[in-house]
Amino acid sequence: MELRHLRYFVAVAEEGNITRAAERLHIAQPPLSRQIQQLEDDLGVVLIERGSRPLKLTEAGQFFYGHALQLLSQTRELKAMTQRIGIIDSKMSIGFVGSTLYGMLPKIIRRFRDAHKTIELSLHEMTTMEQIGALKEGCIDVGFGRIRHEDPNVRRIVLREERLMAALPSEHPLAIKPALSLQDIAMETLIVFPKSPRPSFADQVLTAFHDRALEPRNIYEARELQIAIGLVAAGVGIAIVPSSVQGLKREDVCYRELDVPNMVSPIILSTRLLDESNDVKLLIKMIIDIYEAESMAHAVSAQDLNGVLLNS
Ligand code: BEZ
Repeated sequence: MELRHLRYFVAVAEEGNITRAAERLHIAQPPLSRQIQQLEDDLGVVLIERGSRPLKLTEAGQFFYGHALQLLSQTRELKAMTQRIGIIDSKMSIGFVGSTLYGMLPKIIRRFRDAHKTIELSLHEMTTMEQIGALKEGCIDVGFGRIRHEDPNVRRIVLREERLMAALPSEHPLAIKPALSLQDIAMETLIVFPKSPRPSFADQVLTAFHDRALEPRNIYEARELQIAIGLVAAGVGIAIVPSSVQGLKREDVCYRELDVPNMVSPIILSTRLLDESNDVKLLIKMIIDIYEAESMAHAVSAQDLNGVLLNS
């Protein structure tokens, strides 16, 4: 019994007439009758009551008709799914903290999409801590965050240490200085973000003050980076931000260097510990290529990275 026998039988059952079924199938009537006869011989049962007008199915014929419909529908689904897999090799979900959008993330995603058209990428904004849970639940495959959180099931790679800067109102008296110290900033309202969940980038910034025995006069916790910058523009206070945020140009906010050694925030790539998937390797390779092309200081080198991948 072949799939064509199922198609022919279904057409005859639905049309109730061999001539109309043959027209629907675009074949001549005698070969269609022969195929139905072959099917009945193969099964050893009568499927269509002979002599009935319109043609009626026997009990076995009705049973066969129901199952033939299901099989033909599954065949169509199988065809569609196989064709889709042929087009899309795989899918990769990426979680990222909002601040990485001001860095290299847009370029990395653009280039990756161009170079690997058969990999379907989806992007999800989430905190570093949310990324850890999402990786373990299989909701994302890669996370880009900023918190050095240890988890036995998660592999972390510090891609680079990004310099931090002060964002302050353009009209602020401290704006005349080329670089600000943490003492300068501690005298003002310090705007930190994100407010929750903790630990977050806010804690990295607060730790930098506490490590130097400084307590900012006032702390304002903003929900996210955009809000923090808006509050700076409104003259509420000063925020400490990754240097790439300077790309977010607005007249009422200016950016100044910090007169503090090692004021950096890491950009950390996280994956599931034993995930050796090729897509993730391709993504990492693309990041390395971009860093090398941009001659980025403090970035992980291809050599370091190979070590990380081999040792995991
Ligand atoms: C970067 O700015 O270096 C970066 C941001 C997101 C993902 C990877 C790298």
